[in-house]
Amino acid sequence: TVLIIDFGSQVTQLIARRVREEGVYSEVVPFQKAAEAFRTLKPKAVILSGGPASVPDGDSPRAPQEVFEAQIPVLGICYGQMTMAEQLGGQVESGHHREFGRATLKVEAESDLFEGLWQPGEGHTVWMSHGDRITALPPGFKVKGTSANAPFALIEDEARRFYGLMFHPEVVHTPDGARLISNFVRKVAGLEGTWTMGAFRERAIARIRAQVGKGRVICGLSGGVDSSVAAVLIHEAIGDQLTCVFVDHGLMRQAEADEVVSLFRGHYNIPLVHVDASELFLKELAGVEDPEAKRKTIGRLFIDVFDAEASKVGGADFLAQGTLYPDVIESVSFAGGPSVTIKSHHNVGGLPERMNMKLVEPLRDLFKDEVRALGRELGLPESFVGRHPFPGPGLAIRCPGAVTREKLDILRQADAIYLEEIRYAGLYDVIWQAFAVLLPVRTVGVMGDGRTYDNVLALRAVTSVDGMTADFYPFDMAFLGRVATRIINEVKGVNRVVYDVTSKPPGTIEWE
Ligand code: XMP
Repeated sequence: TVLIIDFGSQVTQLIARRVREEGVYSEVVPFQKAAEAFRTLKPKAVILSGGPASVPDGDSPRAPQEVFEAQIPVLGICYGQMTMAEQLGGQVESGHHREFGRATLKVEAESDLFEGLWQPGEGHTVWMSHGDRITALPPGFKVKGTSANAPFALIEDEARRFYGLMFHPEVVHTPDGARLISNFVRKVAGLEGTWTMGAFRERAIARIRAQVGKGRVICGLSGGVDSSVAAVLIHEAIGDQLTCVFVDHGLMRQAEADEVVSLFRGHYNIPLVHVDASELFLKELAGVEDPEAKRKTIGRLFIDVFDAEASKVGGADFLAQGTLYPDVIESVSFAGGPSVTIKSHHNVGGLPERMNMKLVEPLRDLFKDEVRALGRELGLPESFVGRHPFPGPGLAIRCPGAVTREKLDILRQADAIYLEEIRYAGLYDVIWQAFAVLLPVRTVGVMGDGRTYDNVLALRAVTSVDGMTADFYPFDMAFLGRVATRIINEVKGVNRVVYDVTSKPPGTIEWE
C-alpha cells in the first residue's frame, strides 16, 4: 500500500490515480487521520500531497513524525515538500502569494527518482506551485533540480529515500510526471503492479457493506454510465436491500430508456421502478425558452418524482449516487477563487437533505475512464460502458427554445443517424461526445421539384479528457456531407445541416 496524506490540494486524487495506473494500491487519507491510518495500513511508501496552508503559520498541518522514522520512501509534493523539509530540520519562509504555472526544471544531479528518464544538465517542463520557499535544507538532503524561481525545486535525501518536489508530478502539464511517480512506487519503493480493478471492486463491496449494514438503499438511475455502474456495484454488495428508481423524463436518446430497463431487469435482475414521467416533463416545459429555466424545471421535477416514488417503496436510509471525482471538485475552481455558475448542473443534489438520507457514493474517488473499466469488470456490455456522456437534462438542452414532442422526435432520429455513421466510420471511441442540436430556425430549401421551409440541424463533436475543455472534432468533409445527406433525406422536418466548429472555451460543449 502507498499511503497518500492529503493536505487539501485540489489534485490529490490525481496522485492516487497515477499510483493506481501503476497497478499499486493506494489510500488517500486526510492529514487529520494520517497517524491512525499509518499504523493500521503499514504502508510501504508515503506521498505527502500539496495543500493551501502555509508551513510558517505555526498551526498548519504536519505529517505524523513516525512517517519519517519507518525507513520507507517518502515523496513530498509542494506543501508536502515544505512540511517535510521543516519537520526534518530545514527552514521554510513565507513567499508572497501562491501561483501556478509552467516552468523549466534544470536537472542538477542524478537521482533514482528520474533514473532512465532525465540526465543532469537537461531542462524539463514541470507545473510549478510557488508559495513558501525552503531557505535551508534539512540534514542529509541535496538539491537535484532547480528552476528560475526555485533553487530547491527537487531535493533528495538519498540514504533515507526522501524526495521533495516543488512542482506537481501528478498533473498532465508535467509531461514526465506520471513516470516520476512510476519510478517512485516501482523502482524506489520496489512495489509490484499487482493491484487491479477487480481488487477495487472487492474493496468497494466490503466498504458498502460496512457502511450500509442492514439499511435500505435507494438509487436514482439516469440511464448514464455512472449511476448504472454504481447501482450494479451496490447490488452486488447488498442485493435486494437496494431499490433503483429510473425517472424517465422522456428526454433520452433513441431506445435508451428501454436499454436501461432491460439491462437492469433482464440481465442483472435488479429491482427497478421505471417511472414514465414524460407527459409531466413535457407539460411543465411547454413554452419555457430560457436555458436556465429549463434546467431548473427539469431538476425540480426530477426531485419531485423521485421523492414521490421513494415514499411509495417505503423510503430508505441511504441514497446512492454515481458521483465521480471530477463532480466532487468541479464546484471548486483550481485557483480557489469564486467561480461563476455557467450552467446549473442537473443531478440529484438537494435530495439527501429533503429526504433525510445519508449518501452512498462508491465511485467518489474514480475518474470517468476508471468507472468505465469498473463497469466492464462488473460485466456491463461494452456498448453501454463506452457510451458518450449524456447530460442530465437530456435532449431538452439540445433544442434551443421551447421543447415539444415533435422537436424531440426529429432530434432523436437525426442523432441516431449521426451516431450510426460515426460508429460505422470507426470514430466513436476517439470522440468524447457527438450529438445533434435542433435549431429554432427555418430556412428555405428545394427537394425534388418542391420548395421546403424546414429546420436547421447543427452537428457537434468534440474531443476532451474530462469535459472541462474541448476541441471540435475535425471530420473530413466527405463524412459530414454523407451524414447531412442521410439526415435530410431520412428525417422529416430538417432541410439543412451545419457543423459546429467552436472549441471550449469559448463555447461550452452543450448549446444550453
Ligand atoms: P458543458 O456544456 O458545460 O458540458 O461544456 C460539459 C460536460 O457536462 C455535460 N453536462 C451535464 N452533465 N448534468 C450532467 O450530468 C448536466 O446538467 C449537464 N450539463 C452538461 C455535457 O454533456 C458535457 O459532457
